[in-house]
Amino acid sequence: MSTPIIQVENVTFQYDKRTETDILSSVSFNIYKGEWVAIVGKNGSGKSTLAQILVGLLTAQQGEITIDGLKLSQQTIWEIRRKIGIVFQNPDNQFIGTTVQDDVAFGLENLNLPYDEMRAKVDEALKLVGMDDFRLHDPSQLSGGQKQRVAIASALALDPNILLLDEAFVMLDPASRQDLLIALKQLKQKKQITIVSITHDKNEMVAADRLIVLNNGRVVNSGLPKEIFMTQAELEPPFSERLRRKLRELGKNVPNEYMTEDEMVRWLCK
Ligand SMILES: Nc1ncnc2c1ncn2[C@@H]1O[C@H](COP(=O)(O)OP(=O)(O)O)[C@@H](O)[C@H]1O
Ligand SMILES: [Mg+2]
Repeated sequence: MSTPIIQVENVTFQYDKRTETDILSSVSFNIYKGEWVAIVGKNGSGKSTLAQILVGLLTAQQGEITIDGLKLSQQTIWEIRRKIGIVFQNPDNQFIGTTVQDDVAFGLENLNLPYDEMRAKVDEALKLVGMDDFRLHDPSQLSGGQKQRVAIASALALDPNILLLDEAFVMLDPASRQDLLIALKQLKQKKQITIVSITHDKNEMVAADRLIVLNNGRVVNSGLPKEIFMTQAELEPPFSERLRRKLRELGKNVPNEYMTEDEMVRWLCK
C-alpha cells in the first residue's frame, strides 16, 4: 500500500454554526487504492454527511481532503467528481433518460465516444448489475431495487476509480444484493477500483476489506470486519457469527474466534 487514494484529515463539520454542534469532529482516515472499505455506524452518526463532503457537495469548516493526489477545492472539484461514481440511497432523483439504456448512457455523452464504444460500456454496466434485459424499459416504471441497480450501472459505466455507495443496496432483495456484491468483488479485482460503501447490511460489511466505525461524528474504530464484530457490541454480527456465539453459550466446542459462513459450514460438517 503506497499513498492513499482517499485521505481525510481532521475534518470537522457543522450544518448550523449557531448551534455549534459538530456533526463531524476531527475525522481522519486513509483509504488505499483497490481497497473496499465499509463505513458503518448508527443512524445520525454522520455517514451521509461525510459522503457528501468527500465529493464536494458539502464543504467542511475545517480539515483537508485529498482524492487521488488532488486536494479538494473549488478548482479541483470537477476533476475529482470524474474519478468518483456516486450512488445514494434514493435513486428516484437520479434519472434523466426515458429508457434505461439512455439513462446509463447519459453520463457518457460528454465524453464524445464513438457510438460502438459507448454502447459497449452501457452493455457491460447493465450486465454487471443484471439489468440488461431492461434496457428499453422506462426507468420510472421500475421497482425500487431495479432503479438502484440502474443507478449503480450509470455510475460504473463511467469507469470511476472510486465507487461511493451510500446505502445504495437498501431497496434490493437479498438475492440481488448478493449477486451485486459478487459482481463488485470481481470488478474490484479486475479494475483495481476502490469501493467505499456506507451500509447497515452485515453481508456488505463482510464483503469489505476493512470497516470504519463512526459514532457521533467521530471515527471510533477501524479494522477487519471480523475484528470489529468482536469488539463493537452494537453491530449485530452476521448469522454465522451469531450462531457460533450461541453454540458456545450452549457449551459446544466451537472455536472462540470469529468464523465466516464458509468456516462455520466446514466446522459443522466435520
Ligand atoms: N441538511 C441537514 N441540515 C441539518 N442537519 C442535518 C442535515 N442532514 C443531516 N443532518 C443531521 O446531521 C447528523 C448526521 O446525519 P447523517 O450524516 O445523515 O447521518 P447518517 O448518514 O450516519 O445517518 C444528524 O444529526 C442529522 O440530523
Ligand atoms: Mg445516511
